[in-house]
Amino acid sequence: MTEQLAFEFHDTDLDAIAAASGRVAVFVGSDGKLDPAARRVNRLTKGALARLVEAGEIGKMKAGEVKSLGYPAGMAAKAVDVVCLPRRPSVAEARKAGAALSARQGGSALLLLLGSNNRAAEVVLGCALRAYDFDAHMSKKADARGAVTVMATKSAEVASEAKPLLAKAEGVFFTRDLTNEPANVLTTTEFANRLAALEKIGLKVEVLEEKDLQKLGMGALLSVGHGSISPSKVVVMQWNGGKKGDAPLALVGKGVVFDTGGISLKPAAGMEDMTMDMGGAGVVSGVMKSLALRKAKANVVGLVGIVENMPSDRATRPGDVVTSMKGDTIEVINTDAEGRLVLADVMWYAQERFKPRGMIDLATLTGAIIVGLGHENAGVFSNDDDLCKSFLKAAEAEGEGAWRMPIGEAYNALIKSRVADVSNSGGRPAGSITAAMFLKRFVKDDMPWIHLDIAGVASVKSGTAFSPKGATGWGVLALNRLVADMCEAADEG
Ligand code: BES
Ligand code: MN
Ligand code: ZN
Repeated sequence: MTEQLAFEFHDTDLDAIAAASGRVAVFVGSDGKLDPAARRVNRLTKGALARLVEAGEIGKMKAGEVKSLGYPAGMAAKAVDVVCLPRRPSVAEARKAGAALSARQGGSALLLLLGSNNRAAEVVLGCALRAYDFDAHMSKKADARGAVTVMATKSAEVASEAKPLLAKAEGVFFTRDLTNEPANVLTTTEFANRLAALEKIGLKVEVLEEKDLQKLGMGALLSVGHGSISPSKVVVMQWNGGKKGDAPLALVGKGVVFDTGGISLKPAAGMEDMTMDMGGAGVVSGVMKSLALRKAKANVVGLVGIVENMPSDRATRPGDVVTSMKGDTIEVINTDAEGRLVLADVMWYAQERFKPRGMIDLATLTGAIIVGLGHENAGVFSNDDDLCKSFLKAAEAEGEGAWRMPIGEAYNALIKSRVADVSNSGGRPAGSITAAMFLKRFVKDDMPWIHLDIAGVASVKSGTAFSPKGATGWGVLALNRLVADMCEAADEG
């Protein structure tokens, strides 16, 4: 498990600034006004900050940007990081500032002189999110990061505001670690074990084995894992922090630990990326972890279908007909359209067992969504305008790109089968939409539902403001916020 940065919170002590080692970050608004800590740094450096302001440098910077002054005279620090940030920044600006500081921190200690900035905790979150390296399999580990000391006027308040935010960052790290792991390490069994370990933080976790899944009639899910030596599993994680008896929100994730395509084998180039095909299950797991860590006042159940899609003499063949738990028969015309087979059964089970108030599934489901939306936005498909709007609002507030796509009966013509109730692939046209329409068959009437196709956003080739290249943890923050808006806000009133 990648460890989070350690943060300490202290009331501002101006006299400690001169002797602080490592890096010292001061925050200056674009108006160039210096707060008491910045004035002290300015005095120690014989006017360096004032000169930066007078030269118009600060005025040119965007909120959240950082300029570093190396080895400042008059201070023990090796650098002063001058951050352009208003005293009342937006959440996005504050996080960006924290991330920019973290990106240049390295092994040095870091002192954040946040004064009375009203988004100090969000600066801390930005810093925490960016301080991630997946070095589990490197003989030479990334340099340990230095400790971060937060100095603020009301440090106890900042510390308590930061606590639930850091719980969310912990969930994001869990998602990233799972998604980054290679498939020989994160086997189906290892995945289930890591989830079972969440019992320690108060989640109720059950692991359903193949014999249980057979009894439940999950013929669609089981057909995907048939070709693999790794046993298929469904893991159910419950967080019951809300009112007893309130219907939970259900989160369902695609957990294909590796997707070779099966008998409809994928081409070699880029196949290694399919270690991230459990990204949807990774996000569900990360959300459940953060809900438990921040003791969310909400009832949420997370279900993940964990399988490996391999070709072998036991593997499902193109043309095979399988029967889902719902009872619908499916012609598997392409064994590479496997995610929807997994989700169909887990979604049906989620609704039968938990009668949720709403259901959201997440999956690295189609290459077509990358063609449509690239790596900036996840595809959002929904049968419920209200739930969909709430999600889009939450994603926007968290800076996680999400774009609604259409669904409609007309698309069902593309997934008609000659021999079964439905076929599992509609071919190239509207590939992401036909996948969503396939899933919709397994959503009960009147069940508010969102399908998130995260194939383009779960893992990226170039780093973002908040994560290095590889797994991003996209969705953990948005879903935490959605849970807060939908379930927790009502309690507080
Ligand atoms: N796991 C893939 C989708 C994917 C592609 C995820 C690229 C991340 C990056 C999925 O199982 C798949 O193979 N989908 C097929 C569906 C087709 C056969 C109908 C696809 O997108 O080509
Ligand atoms: Mn596939
Ligand atoms: Zn897949």
